[in-house]
Amino acid sequence: MQVFTIIALVFAACSVHAKVFFREEFLDGDEWRSRWVDSKHKSDYGEFKLAAGNFYGDAEKDKGLQSSQDARFYATSARFEPFSNEGKSLVIQFTVKHEQKIDCGGGYVKVFPSDMDQTDMHGDSTYYIMFGPDICGYSTKKVHVIFNYKGKNHLIKKEIKCKDDELSHLYTLILNPDQTYEVKIDNEKVESGTLEEDWDFLPPKTIKDPEAKKPEDWDDRAKIDDPEDSKPEDWDKAENIPDPDAKKPDDWDEDMDGEWEPPMIPNPEYKGEWKPKQIDNPNYKGTWVHPEIDNPEYIPDANIYKFESIGVLGLDLWQVKSGTIFDNFLITDDVKEAEDIGNETWGATKEPEKKMKQEQDDVKRKEEEERTKAQETEEADEEDDDDEDEGGEEEEDEEEDTKDEEELSESDEAAKLQDKDEL
Ligand SMILES: *[C@@H]1O[C@H](CO)[C@@H](O)[C@H](O)[C@H]1NC(C)=O
Repeated sequence: MQVFTIIALVFAACSVHAKVFFREEFLDGDEWRSRWVDSKHKSDYGEFKLAAGNFYGDAEKDKGLQSSQDARFYATSARFEPFSNEGKSLVIQFTVKHEQKIDCGGGYVKVFPSDMDQTDMHGDSTYYIMFGPDICGYSTKKVHVIFNYKGKNHLIKKEIKCKDDELSHLYTLILNPDQTYEVKIDNEKVESGTLEEDWDFLPPKTIKDPEAKKPEDWDDRAKIDDPEDSKPEDWDKAENIPDPDAKKPDDWDEDMDGEWEPPMIPNPEYKGEWKPKQIDNPNYKGTWVHPEIDNPEYIPDANIYKFESIGVLGLDLWQVKSGTIFDNFLITDDVKEAEDIGNETWGATKEPEKKMKQEQDDVKRKEEEERTKAQETEEADEEDDDDEDEGGEEEEDEEEDTKDEEELSESDEAAKLQDKDEL
């Protein structure tokens, strides 16, 4: 058989066997409740509702799970036929919309082993993969990519920035059997690389040779004092001298004022500390480089990417200001299929959604402008008789602002705790 024929056959076989393991777009009303299981691990988890939000591309298709209570943990999950990603690509994809201008909260999914107890899912439940955006204040705006390897969670070493606006965004993680990965946002690559390089799954390949030591006579000074140079004899001068131009004031009374002394001024001839000229060190050997040897503890592993029994996708996260909508969950082994579905769902939504938001923003801005105008007219009328009251109002406003900030920093703490829980 010709090589081309073989390649063609392999491609054909691959596309035939492309598989969608999980797809959830919430298109059948309340039926999602039969597919998603709320955790009972805590009694006060926040409630997810089915909603398209305040602006959308399509009132029905854009319905997704929306967090509906502020300052809550959320924990719900859906199960699918367990599978292993051995020898295949694994694609995890979903959309997130933080239409509430999120201050602090998770927008990520966790993918669990099939034996996870959904009714008891919580921050410490063992997961295979955690993927998606996380925002807290101004400092944390990143995409998590965490893999569990031999019982330990490993965070990606690269910083991937997430979207922080109020529109829907498509997040895609691709994990390949050749141990490469790719992260896409809105169907565009934002990061890629290899598991070995971008996570610390394995000990380093090489280590500093413990037997090697810098020789004692190793000279790593590039420059040295010029031995020929010496301090000029007239170098040392006082730093300050009596001002030669100062004169004793006419009315100076030695009995009353004591002996007159001229004030001190900086000496123009003062040259500071003498330092010898620097010359190239003839014995310079360069910086000593510690020789490396193969790390005896490094054992390559071609199966870091492999998960035995993937079976549950969950939302297990904390949010301060609720309103995030999760939609278009997809787990497949086909990169192209995922891109297609991303285009059909998020791709079809994004423009009309943006337009609707723009229109709402315009209306709000006009209302705001009119309110300000009305207020200004009112204030101008009252200006003379009501100055004190206005001052009082401003102070109250400031107090409220401070309170908001305090609440946010408290939530920061809570989120950090939650993060710690997960790591
Ligand atoms: C998805 O949409 C983008 C932008 O329109 C396009 O470049 C890309 O080819 C599409 N992907 C697929 C698989 O159709």
